[in-house]
Amino acid sequence: MAERLVLRMRRSLTAPVPAPSWPDGIRLAAFDPDHHARDVHALLVAAYARGGGEVAPYDAWLPALTGDAEYDAALCFVAVDDRNAVAGVAQCWTSAFIKDLAVRADHRRQGLGSALLLHAFRRFRERGAPFVDLKVDSDNPSGALRLYRAHGMQQIEAYRLP
Ligand SMILES: CC(C)(COP(=O)(O)OP(=O)(O)OC[C@H]1O[C@@H](n2cnc3c(N)ncnc32)[C@H](O)[C@@H]1OP(=O)(O)O)[C@@H](O)C(=O)NCCC(=O)NCCS
Repeated sequence: MAERLVLRMRRSLTAPVPAPSWPDGIRLAAFDPDHHARDVHALLVAAYARGGGEVAPYDAWLPALTGDAEYDAALCFVAVDDRNAVAGVAQCWTSAFIKDLAVRADHRRQGLGSALLLHAFRRFRERGAPFVDLKVDSDNPSGALRLYRAHGMQQIEAYRLP
C-alpha cells in the first residue's frame, strides 16, 4: 500500500471568526448518540470510502467515541436536513481538535463543510482555545486540504504513515 503524507493543520483563534452561512434547509441538531450515532457512522464510512480517513466498525467506533477522555457530545456538531437526516458532521475533541469532518455526498459543494468548520472554530474560540487543529491527508480526494487553507488553516507538521 502507498504511504500517506499526513498534515497537521492549525487555525489561530485570536481574532474573531466569521459567522457560518448554512445552506437552505440545513440546521444544527444537538448530538444524541441514541438518535444520531448510526447515521453519523454511516456517513463517515461513506465519506472515507475513497480515502481521506478511516473509521472502525460501528460496534468498536461508538464506545471508542463516547468513552474517550476528550469526548463531549456538545462538540459533536451534527447538521441535519429538512427530513432530520444527518447531512454533515464535525466531531471534535475537547483539546480543540477536529477529529472528523464529513458531508453527505448529495449535500456537498453547497457550503456545509465550510459552515461546520466555522461553527467549530467559533465554539472553540468561545471556550477560550487559542487555536484549533486537525489532520488531513495531503492527497485527500475530496479537496479537504483546499477547504482548510481557504479558512485560514496552516500546516504546522507533516509526517508519513505506511
Ligand atoms: C471535505 C468535505 C467535508 C467538504 O464538504 P463540502 O460541504 O463540500 O464543503 P464546501 O461546500 O464548504 O466547500 C467545498 C467546495 O465547494 C465550493 N462551494 C461552496 N458552496 C458552493 C456553492 N453554493 N456552489 C458551488 N460551489 C460551492 C467551495 O468553494 C469549495 O470549493 P473548492 O473545492 O474549490 O475548494 C466533503 O467533501 C467530504 O465529506 N469529504 C469526504 C470526507 C473527508 O475527506 N473529510 C475530510 C477529512 S480530513
